[in-house]
Amino acid sequence: MNQEWTVICRVEDIPKLGARRVAREQGAEVAIFRTSDDRVFALLDRCPHKGGPLSQGIVSGHGVACPLHNWTIALDDGCARAPDAGCTPRFAVRVEGGQVLLDAQELRTQAVDAVA
Ligand code: FES
Repeated sequence: MNQEWTVICRVEDIPKLGARRVAREQGAEVAIFRTSDDRVFALLDRCPHKGGPLSQGIVSGHGVACPLHNWTIALDDGCARAPDAGCTPRFAVRVEGGQVLLDAQELRTQAVDAVA
């Protein structure tokens, strides 16, 4: 399958241990996170619990703590750490020459019916 990558920003535009939101034509925003080891992950900006804005959470290791009720969501698969359960959609990310790219097709189609 042909992937169409779209440049979003530079890695350094995302605060370390923080996130940046990416608006889409349709659907809830996507949160892109930067870890202390400069890995970048992308999840729908909605906690699987009650829809908290994960982009406002604190990143630690490869997880983010939801600002509402402190569930920890794994950045690599979007799933809550036990004993909590549930997953939020994740998005493919590529980092190339210091730039962060997301899959344009996924941005257009994935989880667009989640309430914004
Ligand atoms: S909404 Fe995220 S922990 Fe409750």
